[in-house]
Amino acid sequence: MLIKNGTLVTSKGLQKADIYIELGKIREIKKTISNKGAEKTIDATGLHVLPGMIDSHVHLRDFKEVLKEDFFSGTSAALAGGVTSVIDMPNNSLPTISMEALAAKKYVASKKALCNYGFNFGATLNNFEEASKALVDTSVASLKIYMGSSTGSLLVDDFSAFYKHLQNFKGKPILLHAEDEHAIRHFSKQHLGENQKSNGIDSQNSLSDARKSQNMDIDLQADSSKKPISAQVHGKIRNSHVAELAVSRAISSAQKTNAKIHICHVSTQKELELIHAARKKIKITCEVSPHHLFLDESYAKKLGNYAKVNPPLRSKSEIAYLWQALRSGKIDMIATDHAPHLREEKELPYLQAPSGMPELDTALLLFLDAVSKKQLSLPQLANLYSKAPAKLFGLKNKGEIAVGKDADLVLVNLKSKTKIKSENLFTKCHWSAYEGITANGKIMKTILGGKIAFDEGSVLARIGDGTELKFRA
Ligand code: NCD
Ligand code: ZN
Ligand code: ZN
Ligand code: ZN
Repeated sequence: MLIKNGTLVTSKGLQKADIYIELGKIREIKKTISNKGAEKTIDATGLHVLPGMIDSHVHLRDFKEVLKEDFFSGTSAALAGGVTSVIDMPNNSLPTISMEALAAKKYVASKKALCNYGFNFGATLNNFEEASKALVDTSVASLKIYMGSSTGSLLVDDFSAFYKHLQNFKGKPILLHAEDEHAIRHFSKQHLGENQKSNGIDSQNSLSDARKSQNMDIDLQADSSKKPISAQVHGKIRNSHVAELAVSRAISSAQKTNAKIHICHVSTQKELELIHAARKKIKITCEVSPHHLFLDESYAKKLGNYAKVNPPLRSKSEIAYLWQALRSGKIDMIATDHAPHLREEKELPYLQAPSGMPELDTALLLFLDAVSKKQLSLPQLANLYSKAPAKLFGLKNKGEIAVGKDADLVLVNLKSKTKIKSENLFTKCHWSAYEGITANGKIMKTILGGKIAFDEGSVLARIGDGTELKFRA
């Protein structure tokens, strides 16, 4: 394949050049490459060519949650969003907390995935042996620990279990959902009253709750004297202190154990200040998710439970800080936290509605729009959403447009616009918190291993085109 006349986004900046691809790899990059009989030539005049995005935080569901998403629909959404590699999170049902579950996930992914995929392994209160086996499995990118409850059943709220995982899992990063469970419980009681549970572990029953609620109209009417709890309470329960506490505890434990930690979905200035100060002492990285940059807390009022996410949406001033931190290198990478849930679940009352929102289809588009508004440069974007995750997880052939690297690329048009509409999304849940937004930018083509995998609205990839990622073992 030959890609002609594009503007390449490389770590050295923008460069007008042609790319020659052979056997799935970038073979040559030059000002002009004459057609050496390439089977396909793409005219990229007026387009920017970026490395394929690498999304290390996606929840592809499948198994018992196949109605929400599976490896086929989730990786379709990825390719449509310019993402060529995804790393699945373990909190889905089936949770990836044993080697047996990992094998089942690998099997399903091999039968359904359209882009490259890998797995984050989940920590429980006692799966230390399984975690040490996962550590040496090349399909495993990291160990994920939920310090606070979120969607799903995974939670390590016991200090000794947390500490032991940090001591044992050495060599690969440990990813943290950093919200302090004790603080969540405290603020839940304060804002909801003694008997109300927060939205963590109970929300895994939301699918059956959604079904039940259709037959519950009479009960609900009988109970209508009770004022429904507004979804806006979510931000009060999981306030910035909840995140700050967990990050601070994680840092001090990492310092004692020498663990390499990565803070998922940072959303506050306080977390970033702690992380920044800790960089001198420990190996620590962090990611930000699109919703914490593009949606402020007022969306909790506008969208109700559709905007319910952990950590919650924050204030405009927190968001301003996040953007500045993203530009100045205080945030290492972008990862979407693509967390699809069904509309019928999001329509449940606040307490039963699960947390999380879909992102894969739309993330790159939103960041292209941010580029058009000068909030970020294209090289910064490519670095944050491709090169940095490749580096953290040791994917040495990915993350950059350079000779010898895998030919995973995305061609975008910054002069075109895209209106986000749920009917155009590939995620199975078919809704978006960004519905109706018109982004400056359009994803024209996604190239995976030297083949066109997405082309102006259509996913062309076939099962088997994506491969299992190989992480440092
Ligand atoms: C995620 C999910 O739905 O799996 N939800 C969320 O609110 N972010 C879980 C998580 O990443 O915490
Ligand atoms: Zn999380
Ligand atoms: Zn605690
Ligand atoms: Zn997540």
